[in-house]
Amino acid sequence: MPTAIHHIAIAVNDLEAALAFYRDALGLEVSERREVPEEGVEIAFLPAGEGEIELLRPLGPDSSVARFLEKRGEGLHHICLRVENITAAMERLRAAGATLLSEEPRVGADGTRYVFIHPKSAHGVLLELYER
Ligand code: CO
Repeated sequence: MPTAIHHIAIAVNDLEAALAFYRDALGLEVSERREVPEEGVEIAFLPAGEGEIELLRPLGPDSSVARFLEKRGEGLHHICLRVENITAAMERLRAAGATLLSEEPRVGADGTRYVFIHPKSAHGVLLELYER
């Protein structure tokens, strides 16, 4: 089951402005930055020891992150836990009555398999699971 907190994601309006804080002022380094059109976001990962900060910027007004920012403003968007076997984790969650946001794991550009769990099921926090 979950073996680590892989990353904590923060929704931001302006990625450059966010990097001016998280990279330049706080001193983290950007390990990866790319657009993920299928999720409607540009992401930047900044490792901090064993975990990472993920910054998320919406690519357009249709993005779910754009709607999140409209409703709640900038801030904590989701927490991602690493799992060994995402299929087994999803089965276990479904059996427990949790709501998953996709039927099957989605696959990232780097081959990571991931799924989101609805905040209703996780007591107010959007959770992501990563198998990598
Ligand atoms: Co994430």
